[in-house]
Amino acid sequence: SDTPNGKLMMMHEEAAKLYHHVLLNTPAGAQALKYLKGRGMTDELINDFNLGFAPEQRILKPFLTQKVNDYQLLRKSGLFVENNEGELHDRFVGRVMYPLRNQYGRVIGFSGRVIGKVPEDTPKYLNSPETPIFNKRRTLFNFDVARKEARQASKIYLFEGFMDVISAYAAGVKNGVASMGTSLTEEQVAVLGRAVNQVDICYDGDSAGQNAIDRAISLFRDHQPQGMQLRVVQLPAGVDPDEYVQQNGATKFSKYLVDQEETVVDFYLRFYRINKNLNNQNELISYLDQSLKLLATLPSSLEQDMYLTKLAKEFDLDKATLKSQLVEISHRLG
Ligand code: UTP
Ligand code: MN
Ligand code: MN
Ligand code: MN
Ligand code: MN
Repeated sequence: SDTPNGKLMMMHEEAAKLYHHVLLNTPAGAQALKYLKGRGMTDELINDFNLGFAPEQRILKPFLTQKVNDYQLLRKSGLFVENNEGELHDRFVGRVMYPLRNQYGRVIGFSGRVIGKVPEDTPKYLNSPETPIFNKRRTLFNFDVARKEARQASKIYLFEGFMDVISAYAAGVKNGVASMGTSLTEEQVAVLGRAVNQVDICYDGDSAGQNAIDRAISLFRDHQPQGMQLRVVQLPAGVDPDEYVQQNGATKFSKYLVDQEETVVDFYLRFYRINKNLNNQNELISYLDQSLKLLATLPSSLEQDMYLTKLAKEFDLDKATLKSQLVEISHRLG
């Protein structure tokens, strides 16, 4: 812990403690606390995730300078921004603070959220920059907890955001992580691949979320280890996992995760339909063509046969005809 990286983690942990204290015990934190309570965050959750508040008044620099009298270290921490005069100022102000931990539970960065409605030209979540201890491409929110939980649950849920992970945790689903940002990286896929053999992608039920599922699946396909299982849980239109928990409660949420878990193929059989009118014959033909191309890539003929049965039933088609079409496509794809 006397290494430069150890010191940087210690500084982050001190900062997290300060922000947590401000949130819970000071008038400066009252509005943020009210906001979090309004979002269903209990004291227990606020404690478990060590949530905090960075007040308008810049308090971190004087606080940390007492403990660390090393300008270069303060500068490297990413907790401050440097102005043209070379002065450091608290990076996070007026934000609800989410500490980001590495796989051993050490605090390595923060994300700070605006309270309530997000003004234009302001990022909703502001993240720590890359530092010697914070590699964004490798970090997954709550991974240290999720990988322990996964020893029993044997899988990890991949969510989009912090609040999704926290609300799922509150609902008893503690094996959730978030990729923290728009797109999953191959480094995060590798981290997940070393920890579990099943990942369930559970992104927001909006079109951005659906497209992100498609991208995540491709990334897993290219970078996941052999034998890893991938599943999808599609949320109802327009809600994210956090909103689902707040609206429907813990029991319904955990039941939803189990009942709605689907294979990657089932996801695509739905995904290909978006913006298609399957009552139109041409569009139906193009949908079936796209679907058969996907089925042609499956290694198991038993699996192929199951999906062929589904498609034949749903569109009242002759299964043998679909099958010969699939064989033809397989030949063409080599
Ligand atoms: P969302 O836009 O879905 O936000 O982004 P959210 O998680 O539902 O946030 P709340 O419920 O409004 O608080 C998903 C995730 O993308 C990252 C965050 O990790 C967020 O949780 N993100 C989003 C950023 O890093 N910066 C942003 O400005 C926005
Ligand atoms: Mn506490
Ligand atoms: Mn989203
Ligand atoms: Mn969301
Ligand atoms: Mn949300």
